[in-house]
Amino acid sequence: MSTSENTASAALNVAIAGCGVIGRTHAASVLELPELHVTALVDEIPEAAESLAQWIEENGADRPAQFRTLSEAFAGAAVDVVIIATPSGLHIQQALEVLDAGKHVVIEKPLDVNLNRADEILAAAKAAAAKGQVASVISQHRFDPASLAVDEAKRQGRFGRLTSAIASVSWWRSQGYYDSGAWRGTWAMDGGGAVMNQGVHTVDLLLWFLGRPVEISAKTALLAHEGVEVEDTAVATVTFESGALAVLHATTAAYPGLTVRLQVMGSKGSAVIDNDKLEYFHAADAAGGTESAMGLMGGGNQAEAELARFPEESPTTLDPTVYPAGHVRQYRDIVDAIRSGRPAGVTVQDAVTALATVRALYVSATLGKPVLIDDVLAGKYNDVQVRTGGNHLEQVTA
Ligand SMILES: NC(=O)c1ccc[n+]([C@@H]2O[C@H](COP(=O)([O-])OP(=O)(O)OC[C@H]3O[C@@H](n4cnc5c(N)ncnc54)[C@H](O)[C@@H]3O)[C@@H](O)[C@H]2O)c1
Repeated sequence: MSTSENTASAALNVAIAGCGVIGRTHAASVLELPELHVTALVDEIPEAAESLAQWIEENGADRPAQFRTLSEAFAGAAVDVVIIATPSGLHIQQALEVLDAGKHVVIEKPLDVNLNRADEILAAAKAAAAKGQVASVISQHRFDPASLAVDEAKRQGRFGRLTSAIASVSWWRSQGYYDSGAWRGTWAMDGGGAVMNQGVHTVDLLLWFLGRPVEISAKTALLAHEGVEVEDTAVATVTFESGALAVLHATTAAYPGLTVRLQVMGSKGSAVIDNDKLEYFHAADAAGGTESAMGLMGGGNQAEAELARFPEESPTTLDPTVYPAGHVRQYRDIVDAIRSGRPAGVTVQDAVTALATVRALYVSATLGKPVLIDDVLAGKYNDVQVRTGGNHLEQVTA
C-alpha cells in the first residue's frame, strides 16, 4: 500500500530514529495525538531503543519494534512517517533515505551541520511533495501562542515597518552536558555550539519575523567550557533585505541560565517574547491608530494578543516542564499537512535559510569579515573550516 493510501484515514505509523533525549519528547508528542502511532524505534544503541520502548509501553501504547537502522525498520515494520532525532550531522543523509523510501519525514533541528547537501535535500523534498510526501523540520517555537500573535500582527502590518530586533539566548549548559555524548560540541556532528544547537530556534523566529537575511557579521568565543570545539558565546549583527537590522546573541555560558528573549520593533508597534511568552505587545489597530509623537514609552496591549490561540488546550496540559506543547502543536500542523496534501508550516527551505544564516555567522567569525548569506547558499564558503574565536583576538591585539 502506498503512503498516501495508507494515511487517508487510519492512524499514521511512525518510526522514531534516535531514541535519546529528544526522541523521548517526540514519543510523548506522538502519544498525545490519536492520528499517530509509534510502530518502530531505530537506534544504533539497542539499550536506547529498549529504554524508549519500555517507556512507551508504560505510558499505555503498544510496544514498538526495535531496529538498528532505517532500512531494517522499513523491511520489518509498517512505517508512514519517520522522525529523525539523531545527532545533527546525520539529518540530511537519513532524511534522503526516508524520502527515497516513499515516507513522510520530520527532521529535528538543525537541518544538518552544514549546507553541503542542501541542494540535494531541497530537490528531494520537492520531488517527494509532488508524490504527496511531506517533509518538515522541527521549529516548535513557531507554534507558541506568543510567536503566532507576533506573526499575525506582522502580516497585518500592525507593527508598521519592522525596523530592528534583538534576539538573545542566554542559557547555561554544564561541562557534563557537553561530555554526555561524543557528538556534542563537535563541528562534525553538532555543527556548532550556542548558535547552532541552542540558538537555531531563535534564529528561525528572527528570520520568520524579519524576512530574508542579507549579511551577517559575527564573533564567537569559548569561555566557560573545555574540550569543546564549538563556541559557547556568540554575538552578531544581521542586515535584512527589508533594511531592518538585528542583534543576535547566543550563549551556553550564562549561569544559571537566563531566558530566551526576542524583541521585534517597528514604526507602529513592537513586541517582546521572553521565555516563549508575550512579555510586551503593542500593535496599531486596524485603522493604524495609537500613534503618539514621542511614542507611548511602554503601554502595550498584549492582553488581547495571546488569548484564544489554542482553545483545545486546557491549562493543565500546557505545563512546559511535563508536556512537549510546542512539538505537539507542530505535529498537529504536520498531520494536517499530510492529510490535506499541503506543505507543512515549517519547510525544508525554511530550515535551509536558518542553517545558512548560522553557517554565515561561523564563517564571518572565522574569517573576521562580514559575510553575505547568498554567498553561503551558493557554496562559496563550503570549504572553509570554521573555528571558534576566529581571528578577531589577533586583530584586536595586533
Ligand atoms: N527541538 C528541540 O528543542 C531539540 C532539543 C534537543 C535536541 N534537539 C535535536 O535533536 C537531535 C538529537 O539530540 P539529543 O539531545 O536527543 O541527542 P542524544 O545524544 O540524546 O540522542 C541521539 C540518539 O541517536 C542515536 N544515534 C546515533 N547515531 C545513530 C544512527 N546512525 N542511527 C540511529 N540512531 C543513532 C544515539 O544512539 C542516541 O540514542 C539533535 O539534532 C539536536 O539538535 C532538538
